[in-house]
Amino acid sequence: MPSMCFPSLLERSIFLKTAIRAAEAAGTVLNDHVRSGFRIEYKAAINLVTDADRRAEDHIVQTILAAHPSHRILAEERGQGGGTDSRYQWIIDPLDGTTNFAHGFPFYSVSIGLEYDGECILGVVLDPVRHELFTAAIGQGAYMNGKPIHVSGIETLDKSLLVTGFAYDIRETANNNLDHFSRMSLRAQGVRRTGSAALDLSYVASGRFDGYWEVTLSPWDMAGGIVILREAGGLVSGFTKGEFSLYGKELVATNGHIHDQLLDTLHQRSAGR
Ligand code: IPD
Ligand code: CA
Ligand code: CA
Repeated sequence: MPSMCFPSLLERSIFLKTAIRAAEAAGTVLNDHVRSGFRIEYKAAINLVTDADRRAEDHIVQTILAAHPSHRILAEERGQGGGTDSRYQWIIDPLDGTTNFAHGFPFYSVSIGLEYDGECILGVVLDPVRHELFTAAIGQGAYMNGKPIHVSGIETLDKSLLVTGFAYDIRETANNNLDHFSRMSLRAQGVRRTGSAALDLSYVASGRFDGYWEVTLSPWDMAGGIVILREAGGLVSGFTKGEFSLYGKELVATNGHIHDQLLDTLHQRSAGR
């Protein structure tokens, strides 16, 4: 469906339907593997991948390319694929929370985002365990199982429930978030580490968490969730307010009210506080 200008309402709703179909197909694959078992391989010392990740990704990519054969694909396990000069790029994490999945800890998701000319315009995050489907298209609001969702109204960090995560290079780098984690734990009402960035973003979007930060993310961890969060009234940045790149690794995502306080607390590291 070639388009010379910003995708219309109709196009966005067609893309959203494709993304939902693809996420549900992947969710079924993951649920099947929970019953039938899966093989674990190691990409690095603590970075796992299973055949469930790969099969779920196959189903997502097949579903998307069957509907939109000219579109580009960026998927965690296979890298780049699809057409080469399309203005559309689908960004896919077939299983966000692989470590949880591999241990039988029931907190993981399927995440699909769509970029148009480098702008994220659509996001779908599916929790196949709780059957919660988070969806958003730019300008059309954010939903969980079809019901509108909105960020919380909490205004201070000390009343906030925050969430964060740690990257797989935690043992190899000093920029491993442990300093931020301990400082934030003393300032917030609570800090959680769930193990699925896409669900963390969706939970901020639905008011279950008030803010989220992480230092080393990949585009597929964020692409779906940031649209859901923005459409739910939330704010996204890097570690500098007003600046965000899907390819920039750092993410601060909040209900908006506590954004500056969270950023200030992150920056207190350099001030030694
Ligand atoms: C990981 C999860 C985790 C985050 C890591 C990610 P994966 O993704 O989103 O919450 O802390 O940085 O790499 O490997 O399970 O798809
Ligand atoms: Ca991920
Ligand atoms: Ca993954």
